[in-house]
Amino acid sequence: MYAQSENKKLKFPKGFLWGTAISAYQVEGNNTHADWWKWEQKGKIKIKSGNACDYYRRFKSDHDFLQELGCNTFRLSVEWARVEPEEGKFSKKELAHYREVLLDLKKRDIKIQLTLWWWTSPIWFSEKYGFHKKKSVEVFARYAQKVVDELGDLIDIYQTFNEPMVPLGQGYLSGQFPPGIRNPWKLLKAANNIAKAHKRVYEIIKNKYPEVEVGISYLYNWYESENLGFLIAIVNRVSKWFRVDLIDGKIGENLDFIGVQYYRLGKIKYDWGNMGKLDAKNQIYYGFTIEEDKNNLMKWISYPEGIYRVLTEIKKNRNTPIYITENGVPTDVGLNDQERIVFIKEHLKYMHKAISEGVDVRGYNHWSLLDNFEWLYGYTPRFGLVEIDFSTMERKPRKSFYEYAKICKNNELDLN
Ligand code: BGC
Repeated sequence: MYAQSENKKLKFPKGFLWGTAISAYQVEGNNTHADWWKWEQKGKIKIKSGNACDYYRRFKSDHDFLQELGCNTFRLSVEWARVEPEEGKFSKKELAHYREVLLDLKKRDIKIQLTLWWWTSPIWFSEKYGFHKKKSVEVFARYAQKVVDELGDLIDIYQTFNEPMVPLGQGYLSGQFPPGIRNPWKLLKAANNIAKAHKRVYEIIKNKYPEVEVGISYLYNWYESENLGFLIAIVNRVSKWFRVDLIDGKIGENLDFIGVQYYRLGKIKYDWGNMGKLDAKNQIYYGFTIEEDKNNLMKWISYPEGIYRVLTEIKKNRNTPIYITENGVPTDVGLNDQERIVFIKEHLKYMHKAISEGVDVRGYNHWSLLDNFEWLYGYTPRFGLVEIDFSTMERKPRKSFYEYAKICKNNELDLN
């Protein structure tokens, strides 16, 4: 099917999907009906999203970049708060807008991966329900049904929820994301309801479009420790239970693939001084802290081999097809992003190794196409293959853009 030839050109399987990813709230700008917007206005975080990348108005020229890259897929999301700004009242205007966005991708022959929930909800939903309330399942399903009815003819692949346990952890434990609650009991209820909502939405989509693929994405980093000894195995188990199994275990067979989001190595240490402290932004989890790479803007330690370890571990536990739905590195402003080039090539090398050993990986989406609004961190960490000057909105492809384009166009990684 594919081969690793002598001169270090790694071929990927025929039909492999190469893409990039963005999320509505992080790029569109002015999502005024979303709970995150309200959270920002309340001063809960330092930097407001504002116009973000103005993708809402500039999507066509941004899609030109996808063609230039030679991508055959694109992962994006719809903003629930735009589609349903008031409970039960769907906006024809916004649905028509999303139709235009998706049609523009279709015209370019780009396979659409659509995520229905990417960390933000309408204000009315957060105030009246929240995922910890039972009724949230049917309320979310009603929104999903609308999207499927209005846009479903254009969608190739769905992810119902994006990395749900990250915003739940921040929203229900550390309180740094909306709804800003600190209540483990409500967190468990919310996780349970998200699993139920996924199952319901899976059926909704499959009833109408049986051939379409439906999955969910989880955060899979690789965790190790220097000072925890055998305890690291337990810590790993608990961490994976939280990030993946808590929801995945309840979803059962109701998915066609798993979306893997892999970023880094978590080198865990225990620090007695922080025993009672939970501060996700500074990576402190009740005394467990994660070692930092001071040269990285999010302090993340890059560990390309981890993607291989994660992929082979998934294969051991279940035989589900996999898409890498996100993988990327935060860098500083500047077009000469050698660090990103190395990051991409090294991770793809290890992804290829996993594929060559039989792991069914069907696509890779780099995070991200554009520099964008990085939640609690505002606009400082830059994740884009394309740099944005946020004062003028001018876009410029970085060096890595051209390197990634070669890979996408040739379906091959040239390590010579
Ligand atoms: C999220 C993105 C985020 C990225 C980098 C992912 O887990 O899905 O929204 O920007 O990580 O932090």
